Parts: sequence; C-alpha cells; structure tokens
Amino acid sequence: MDLYEYQARDLFEKHGVPVLDGVVASTPDQAAQAAQQLGGLVVVKAQVKTGGRGKAGGVKLARNPDEARQAAEAILGMDIKGHTVHRVLVAAGADIANEYYFSVLLDRSQRRYLAMCSVEGGVEIEQLAAERPEALARVAVDPLTGIDDATARKIVTEAGFEADVADRVIPVIQKLWDTYKGEDATLVEVNPLVQTADGEIIALDGKVSLDSNASFRHPEHADLVDKAEEDPLEARASELGLNYVKLSGEVGVIGNGAGLVMSTLDVVAYAGEAYGVGPANFLDIGGGASAEVMSNGLSVILSDPEVRSVLVNVFGGITACDEVARGIVGALELLGDQASKPIVVRLDGNSVEEGLSILRDAEHPLVTIIATMDEAAAEAAKLAGKGE
Ligand SMILES: Nc1ncnc2c1ncn2[C@@H]1O[C@H](COP(=O)(O)OP(=O)(O)OP(=O)(O)O)[C@@H](O)[C@H]1O
Ligand SMILES: [Mg+2]
Repeated sequence: MDLYEYQARDLFEKHGVPVLDGVVASTPDQAAQAAQQLGGLVVVKAQVKTGGRGKAGGVKLARNPDEARQAAEAILGMDIKGHTVHRVLVAAGADIANEYYFSVLLDRSQRRYLAMCSVEGGVEIEQLAAERPEALARVAVDPLTGIDDATARKIVTEAGFEADVADRVIPVIQKLWDTYKGEDATLVEVNPLVQTADGEIIALDGKVSLDSNASFRHPEHADLVDKAEEDPLEARASELGLNYVKLSGEVGVIGNGAGLVMSTLDVVAYAGEAYGVGPANFLDIGGGASAEVMSNGLSVILSDPEVRSVLVNVFGGITACDEVARGIVGALELLGDQASKPIVVRLDGNSVEEGLSILRDAEHPLVTIIATMDEAAAEAAKLAGKGE
C-alpha cells in the first residue's frame, strides 16, 4: 500500500525523523487557516500518490494565508498524471541550503535491502541514475544488521557527503531505517532530504509503501487506507473475505483455486477475441467453499456494472459442486429482479451430478449449463459480446 506524503510524514515523526510542521487541508479556507496557524512562509503541496508534483504545478510557495488560499484553489481539483488532488499539505517553509536523496527498499533479487543515497537530491532520481549513475550510491543492507553504524557510514561516504554533514545525516538515515523496519515498509524514499541554512537535516518529502502481507502486525495501518480511492467492489469483496481482483473486460469469472481461475482467465481472453471482450475480474472462491461463499461471490460479480456475463468454472475437490449450485441458486433468489446478466456454469468433480440437478431443477432463465471449460468460455464471451 502506497501512502500519501502527509502519512509518510506522520510515520517519520513517530520514529524521530526530523520533519516540518504540516497541516492537511481539503478546502482553500482550511489551507489559509493552516498557513495562519503555521505562520510565515509555507508550502502548499498536492497530496497524490504519484511523483513529479512540483513539475506539474502541484507544489507552491505562499508567503501569507491569502497566498496559501490561492495556491490551494489552484492545486485542489488539479489532475496530476491521472490522479485528482483532493487534499493539500500545508507545510512550514524551509530555508534550504542543500538537497539530498535517500531511499531504502527491498531488493528481491539480492535477498537484501538496498539503500540509495546522493548529495544531488531534489531532482528526478531516475534521471540521475540513468545519466550519472556514479552520483547515486547503492549500498546493500543486510537484513540481520539493518542500517547499523558501519552501514550508515558506508552509505554517506559513498554518497560523497563532507565529514561534518555526514555526521548529521547518519542519525537521520538510521531513523528512516527504523521507520522502514518498524512499519514493515517495502519502500522509504526521501527526495529531497535537505540541509537548512542553519545546518539541520530534514526530510522534506516522503514516499512510503507498506507491505500489506505484514498488516496483521499493524492494525493501526488500517486507518491509512484511503477508502475513497479503493474500488468499492474490491472493498466489499475483502470485507466478505473473498479473493477478488477487478480487470478491464466484460466477462465475470468465478472459479475455485488460483490455478483453475488463472487458466479460466486465459480461455476467456482467448474466446473473447472473436467478440471483442475479455475477463472483467476474477474471483477465487477457494477450496471447500460453502454455498454462502459462492452466493456472496456471485453477488459481488453481478454488481459490477462492467460485467455483461458471468462464467462459473468449478472443479469440485474439497469444494462440492452441490454447494456451489446451491450458492448460485441462492444468490439468484436473493437478487431477484436485480439479477439480469446471463450466467454460464461449468461444474465437474466432487458431487457434480447433485450440483447439476440442483441447477436443472431451479430452471433459472439466466443460467446455462455447459460441460466443458472451452465451450463454456466461448458461450460466456458470446453472451458478453451481444450488447455491442
Ligand atoms: N517545506 C518546504 N519548504 C521549502 N521548499 C520546499 C518545501 N517542500 C518542498 N520544497 C521545494 O519544492 C521541491 C519539490 O517538493 P517535493 O519534493 O515535495 O515535491 P516533488 O518532488 O515535486 O514531488 P514528488 O516527490 O512527488 O516528485 C523540493 O525539492 C523543494 O525544493
Ligand atoms: Mg520530491
């Protein structure tokens, strides 16, 4: 999960990383009030989960509350690389003497962490890495030691800091490491890390990604989720404990087990070529799914407005086909007239005869039973393509 700058700033503060005071605002008036509260020069910054805000006009200096209001008026609602700005961070202005770069991330290929650091920060780091790679120090971080004193020293030395600055940067990057480790992050990036006119080292901008596999260790991270940004169906599916992923096509796909679901996506994509359609999502009801799980899954998929037909492809193992059939019939009963999309069902394996007879007995006009996966996919694709 990627965080907004203001959320990264809060985590930095929690771990003792020096940051500037800041207030989040979602209206120009709030921004003016924040500037009043902070006093003096402030910076109004677009809060979007993408880089290059400054270049896009999303970072503006303001000398007084009135200018902060105007800056917020200009920035709120702005589109930055497809992200609409709903909030700004009004941050205290810093008297910047130098801009540096620091990041730490997970280096999967080396099975280590990687720290990157440069005395030439503030600029686009990708550009620096491409044009003058020698200006960007890359230091492997052993997961067992983390950024200890020796590693920190190595990082600042390779980055080319002068001795007196290096001594001030070291404790800051160690606290950034504390943030990385303590929050189970996969990325902590500070661009720019600045030295102010009076020599202080401050994290002026922050980008943090958290490892959602570790979310069980951090119940407090749930508050960082931006509900408005989440796909509402994905949110509902996750509340129901379902594995659901939204894709861009028109055929809803429900299966059991990751392998079967993946191959179902493939056959739907293949069959869909003839009709100009593809998979709209996939939903894995998992092993041993009950009628309730099936029914929840189907209702999630049917409420996706992009979905024009649904393919249910279940191979009964631990999951029994009669449970799946009961789930389908149950969901259709619950939905009543709201269910208006054709459903193609292919069942095989454990209790297939019982499952098929439950579906046949229900005689639901929207349900078509097809015996093989390829034919079922072709039918679902054809039904989705009809509306063209
Ligand atoms: N609080 C501040 N006081 C003074 N100058 C600032 C402040 N915040 C940012 N700046 C200046 O604005 C520049 C851009 O800010 P920042 O790094 O936050 O945004 P960005 O780099 O454009 O966005 P992104 O990091 O998303 O690409 C900084 O390099 C710095 O020169
Ligand atoms: Mg930046």
